[in-house]
Amino acid sequence: MQNLIDGRAISGQIHTETAQRVATLRQRGVEPGLVFVRVGEDPASQVYVGMKERKSRELGIRSETIVLPASTSQADLLTLIHRLNHDPVCHGILVQAPLPSQIDSAAIFAAVDPRKDVDGFHPLNVGRLLLGDSTGFVPCTPAGVHELLIRSQVPIAGANVVILGRGNIVGKPMAAILVQKGRTANATVTVCHSATRHIEEHTRRADIIVAAMGVPRFLTAQHIRPGAVIIDVGVNRIPDPSAAGGTRLVGDVAFDEVQPIAGLITPNPGGVGPMTIAMLLANTARAAEVATA
Ligand code: GUN
Repeated sequence: MQNLIDGRAISGQIHTETAQRVATLRQRGVEPGLVFVRVGEDPASQVYVGMKERKSRELGIRSETIVLPASTSQADLLTLIHRLNHDPVCHGILVQAPLPSQIDSAAIFAAVDPRKDVDGFHPLNVGRLLLGDSTGFVPCTPAGVHELLIRSQVPIAGANVVILGRGNIVGKPMAAILVQKGRTANATVTVCHSATRHIEEHTRRADIIVAAMGVPRFLTAQHIRPGAVIIDVGVNRIPDPSAAGGTRLVGDVAFDEVQPIAGLITPNPGGVGPMTIAMLLANTARAAEVATA
């Protein structure tokens, strides 16, 4: 199909660039280090962290996953983060979300040293993104969507972008990235959410739609203007009696009906997902570069 945005191929380009940066670091005696922290046994988190760690090692980044029991207290998790903040061989720290309910996620993300915050979740990095200060870390999924658009030569400046979803991990930082002044941004951004009325009145005017609200196959042909660029961030597990295990993953876009009228569209899987990992490892290379400059 002609109009697919190949996230696997584009993430492969970024991995090649990151591997080169890692090799340069190693030549001057620096081994970039990334530590994953996973609390509990959420099956999706196990898969995601496993994939991130494998790719990280492949690129020459020293990686380790610390798994804590689901009953871990806030205090014990904070103690671990403080230890990692002071460990010079650890350049990046990723605490996988979601965290168990007894833990205050915001307090945990705020405890990570902002210089090691390769997720871009620390309030200082969130603030830097909003201010247009490029020295901070940008959250990996919206940064990956931005790279997909740039590397697919999608015009962003002046475009009407509609973001579906206002979460802290995707929707809000996505809006902050695309609204900035700058050659690869300068979009007119609308953020739609659960209280938005007549959502199709917004989406039908969009040149670019980023669907990140977590509603299975929400975005249908009737929501979009023919030719629009459609980015599907959704990962939703739905019941499917015909599938092994009785469930399968679908995005926020009804791909089969939207793909024929879209200008460009991300497949799902194979679109945004691989980009999240690519941006994480690029952020980790930068953390190591800055820490050892
Ligand atoms: N859970 C879902 N997405 C992410 C992410 O980008 N980073 C972390 N740490 N947890 C997540």
